[in-house]
Amino acid sequence: MKTNKFLCFFILIYISLTFSACLSKGAEKTEKPAVTWNTPEELVSLMTLEEKIGQMTQAEQNDVLKGDIKKYALGSVLSGGDSIPPKNNAENWVAMINRFTAESFETRLGIPIIYGLDAVHGQSKVTDAVMFPHNIGLGAIAAGNRERGIQAAYTAGKITAEEMRATNVFWTFSPVIGVAEDVRWGRTYECFSENVEIVTFMGESLIKGLQDNGVAACMKHYIGEGQTINGKNQGNALLDRDGINRILPPYRAAVNANALTLMPSYSSVNGLKMHEHKELLTDVLKNELNFKGFVISDWDAVRQLSGGSYKVQIANAINAGVDMVMATGGRNQWILFIQNLKALVEEGAVPISRIDDAALRIIRVKQQLGFFKETDAPFVKINGIIGSDENRIEARAMVSDSMVLLRNENNIINRLPSFKNILIAGQGADNIGMQCGGWTVTWQGRHGPTTKGTTIFEGIKSALNGKADVTHSANGNARGNFDAVIAVIGEGPYAEGEGDRSGSIDIRANDRMMLRNVYNYKCPVIVIMLSGRPMNIGDEYNNWDGFIAAWLPGSEGGGIADVLFGVRDFTGRTPFTWRKNFNGEILYPFGFGLTK
Ligand code: BGC
Ligand code: BGC
Repeated sequence: MKTNKFLCFFILIYISLTFSACLSKGAEKTEKPAVTWNTPEELVSLMTLEEKIGQMTQAEQNDVLKGDIKKYALGSVLSGGDSIPPKNNAENWVAMINRFTAESFETRLGIPIIYGLDAVHGQSKVTDAVMFPHNIGLGAIAAGNRERGIQAAYTAGKITAEEMRATNVFWTFSPVIGVAEDVRWGRTYECFSENVEIVTFMGESLIKGLQDNGVAACMKHYIGEGQTINGKNQGNALLDRDGINRILPPYRAAVNANALTLMPSYSSVNGLKMHEHKELLTDVLKNELNFKGFVISDWDAVRQLSGGSYKVQIANAINAGVDMVMATGGRNQWILFIQNLKALVEEGAVPISRIDDAALRIIRVKQQLGFFKETDAPFVKINGIIGSDENRIEARAMVSDSMVLLRNENNIINRLPSFKNILIAGQGADNIGMQCGGWTVTWQGRHGPTTKGTTIFEGIKSALNGKADVTHSANGNARGNFDAVIAVIGEGPYAEGEGDRSGSIDIRANDRMMLRNVYNYKCPVIVIMLSGRPMNIGDEYNNWDGFIAAWLPGSEGGGIADVLFGVRDFTGRTPFTWRKNFNGEILYPFGFGLTK
């Protein structure tokens, strides 16, 4: 493992300059002292306390000034949910991250930073990347066909990694391998299923797809996030050791698959925040499961801990087993983190052995990613990969396979292709942003054409190719006689916090109004639901001839037309139990789904 940063650095400069004129020029002048080492242990033994703590620090890109990385020997930089370069395209991501990386080469030991972000359904922070179905949709594939599920998860991971590498990012904060057990929780759609077995094999497969293709995964959020009281985000879960063991298999499988990083949950177990839960982070995760990667704290999570002061909170987190801190909330927060941690070590409140262990874990992950090789990551640039046709075809097939046919009265789905006049109604009918949900370009997601893709309406129109008249109306008020209505209802985009509900997840008022309008046509109505979880539709389904759960399919809405009008059958099954009302009668049990 001989480091030759000179060669690496010139490759970086060469690639960057041919690719983008935006790269900061100053970096070319770097002189690197020759420091050689063979193992991560050796490198750590060469590091000062400041350098080790620097590795343990992750700053938000907006909070990093020129010179900071060099001065503080920072280990990592991230983009938060709404944090993007001036122009959100591959060129700008590459240039921005190269600038940070170049500065890390100027440090005494020349250890490259690792850049992290939430690529949670594709390289989903970047406009026009392929957006895969959110995990709940992949879970629907798996609930119908285990092998196809495993293959889809692997492919999603692989393509996500390819598109990430094309933007110079080698670490994603995904996948969620929690088991959502209360659909009122707004992060339910980030989970594959309520079924532990599905979460286990899907998580493992997605992680392999990412990591076999050069990107570090981050299993999150450890543990019990889907078990909080009333499904409250960041809430408290009451779990004894049997309860923990029940939801531990996805983590055990991920650790065995060499998942490189892990993020604790904001939530608490039996009243103790996971970020300061030494028993679960160190005894169970690192000792029992033998996790060798590093633990990254969640966004500003350390400041939620007990202790009353930032300093004590830092001690609690690091002593519990957190290795790198996502120190957000402004530039002064990560600087304070560094100062406080140094003082804590000097005072003996955090043992140096803990610091050595954390630094070693971080260096080891960077080494496993090939960051110290002469010609390898993190400086590879692959052109033309973002949102390629090839990648979209794979995503489109996943969309088809994630559709769950819940109702097919009078064989309406098979009759659809014979109709000559079809109305496609609803706010979700022609709405990429609603198909994609949260964590799409922006943190909470947005309605409308937020990224490239095919809407449900566009997909159907192109599948029918003039063989039938297709009319679109958002509110369902259109002129004409229709043979059938395809009504798209669902939830608007949301992410953590915003998505929590306190009771039934009801049909939205605008969708209700639209449905009332389309019932007037007195023709068959097929409802497609875009949602991050089963919605509580009460008895409304009695008015529907067909009903399809489409989850949050992402950018390739054409996959829906393929099951409605093409040769593909419905093979997805619901990965969550579907109730009429909150805590009410079960309408569709876990694993339910029809074929054409
Ligand atoms: C979320 C994490 C995410 C992080 C960085 C947090 O609020 O809980 O899932 O990785 O932000 O965006
Ligand atoms: C950030 C997210 C983060 C959230 C937590 C947002 O401003 O963009 O990444 O998860 O804050 O509150």
